[in-house]
Amino acid sequence: MYKLLKNICCIGAGYVGGPTMSVIADKCPNIIVNVVDSNKKRIDLWNSTDLNKLPIFEPGLEQIIKRCRGRNLHFSSNIRECIAKADMIFISVNTPTKKKGIGAGKASDLKWVEACARQVAEFSSGYTIVVEKSTLPVKTAEAIKSILETAQLSLGGDSKKSFDVLSNPEFLSEGSAIEDLENPDRVLIGGDNKKAIKILSNIYRNWVPEKNIICTNIWSSELAKLTANAFLAQRISSINAISALCESTGADVREVARAIGTDSRIGSKFLDSGPGFGGSCFKKDILNLVYLSNYFGLNEVANFWEGVVHLNNWHQHRISELIIKKLLGTITGKKILILGFAFKANTNDTRESAAISICRDLLEEGAILFIHDPKVDPNQISEDLKIKENIELKKYKEINYSEEGSWCSVINIKSSFKNADAAVVLTEWEEYSRIDWGDAAIKMRHPAWVFDARSIIEKDQLKSFDLNLWRIGDGSMVK
Ligand code: NAD
Ligand code: UDX
Repeated sequence: MYKLLKNICCIGAGYVGGPTMSVIADKCPNIIVNVVDSNKKRIDLWNSTDLNKLPIFEPGLEQIIKRCRGRNLHFSSNIRECIAKADMIFISVNTPTKKKGIGAGKASDLKWVEACARQVAEFSSGYTIVVEKSTLPVKTAEAIKSILETAQLSLGGDSKKSFDVLSNPEFLSEGSAIEDLENPDRVLIGGDNKKAIKILSNIYRNWVPEKNIICTNIWSSELAKLTANAFLAQRISSINAISALCESTGADVREVARAIGTDSRIGSKFLDSGPGFGGSCFKKDILNLVYLSNYFGLNEVANFWEGVVHLNNWHQHRISELIIKKLLGTITGKKILILGFAFKANTNDTRESAAISICRDLLEEGAILFIHDPKVDPNQISEDLKIKENIELKKYKEINYSEEGSWCSVINIKSSFKNADAAVVLTEWEEYSRIDWGDAAIKMRHPAWVFDARSIIEKDQLKSFDLNLWRIGDGSMVK
C-alpha cells in the first residue's frame, strides 16, 4: 500500500511524538519508525527496560512499547542519521508561548521548529515529505518551506534533495492518547501536493476509515487546530462561569450541564466544571489565536478569545479565595491536604495545571500543604511551585507556624489526614472517589472542610460524618 514509504523519522519524543509514533509503528509493522530527540535523558528513559520509567504515563502505552520497541520502533539521539534515512519526517517539537521580544506572552516561540527545519535541510537525502505535527500558527508551513529551500541553496543547492510540506495536526488528549490515536474522530491533512497527501493518508488508512481522513488546504489545517482547542477551552470557561453563578443562586452546575447537554446542538461532552483548564495546549493556543487576530487588526476577535483565558485565571483564584474564606479567613500554619497535582487524571503532566496556581495562592497565605498525586514526581512539584519540598514536614504532628508557606509530598493519603484542616480535590484521579471519609473525619482537626473542585464526591458519602463539603458549582451547599 505504501511502497514508497519505508522509513519515518519523528523529531521530538514528547507527549505527542512518543505516543503517536508508537501507534503508527504498531499499526504499520512494515514501516521503520525512528523517534529522535535532542534531550538524551528523555531518549534513555524511552529505552529503559523498566517500563515504569518511560518518560510519560499514558494508559495502554506500555503494551505498545513492549510489542514494537526494537522491532520497528526505535528511540535515538542520532538525529543526523535518522533524518538522512527518512522518507517522511514529522516535526513534533514544543511550540511554547514566547517569553520575550515581539509577541511575548502570546505568539508561539518557533525557534525549535526552525531548528528542525534547518536540521532536515542539512541532513535529509532525496525526496522527503516534511509533516508539521506540532501545533503551529497559520503560515508556518510557508516559513518551513522557505527554510528548506534557502538552507538547501546555501548548502550548495543539492539538486538531489526535494521537499513537500504537509500539515497534520494532532488532536489527542493526554490521559487517553492511545485510545484517541487508535480511534480518532478525524485525521486532518493540509497540503497542496496530492501525491504527498496520498502517501501520508495511506499510513493512516491502515487503521482509520477513509471517511475520517479530512484533507484541506494547508492554512485551513493549521487554523483548524488552533480553533478546535479554542472552542474546547471556551466550553470549559463557559461552564466554569456558570458554576460561579450556580453557587450564588442555589442551582447545581451538574444539573445545568445535564439539562443543556441533552440539546444535540450543544452536546454533553466537555461540560464538567472543574478548577479551570490546564495542560500545555489550551492557553498557549488561544493566546496564539489572540496574537494572530491582533496582527491582522481584528481586535474584537482577539478580545473575544482572550476573555476565555481571563475567565480561567479568575476562576482558579476564585477557588483559592473561597478556601481561605471557608477556613475562617486565615490559613496561616493550617494543614491542607491537596489531592491531585496533574492537570487532569491519567497523566503525569503538570503543565499549566490549575493545582499550580491554587497551591501557590495557598502557600502565599501561609498554608502548610501536603500534596498527593499518584503519578507526578515531587521534583516536578518543586519546579512548578518554585519552592523546594520541606521533608521535615513529614514529621508534622500539629499546627506549627514556623513551617508556614511550605509543602511536602504524600504517599499514604490515609495517614495524611491527621490534623488536617482541609482536603482539596484538584485532579479527578479515580482513587479519590474511594476515600474513606469516615476515617478521614476522625483524623482531621475540626471544623474540617472538604473542597471538591472536580465534583467526584457525592453528598451522601460525607453525610454521616462531621465534615463540611464544598463542591464546585453546587449552590445547594452554600453555608
Ligand atoms: P514536549 O515538550 O513534550 O516534547 C517536545 C520534544 O521536542 C522535547 O523532548 C524536546 O527536547 C524536543 N525537541 C525540541 N527541539 C528539538 C530539536 N531541534 N531536535 C530534536 N528534539 C527537539 O511537547 P509535546 O507536548 O509533545 O508537544 C509537541 C507539539 O504538539 C506542540 O506544538 C504542542 O502544541 C502540540 N500538541 C500537544 C498535545 C499534547 O497533548 N501535549 C496535543 C496536540 C498537539
Ligand atoms: C487538549 C485537547 O482536548 C486535545 O484535542 C488537543 O490535542 C490537546 O489539548 P489535553 O489538554 O490533553 O487535550 O486535555 P483535555 O482533556 O482537553 O483537558 C484540558 C483541561 O480541561 C484539563 O485541565 C481538564 O481537566 C479540563 N476539563 C476538560 C474540564 O475542566 N472539564 C471538562 O469537561 C473537560
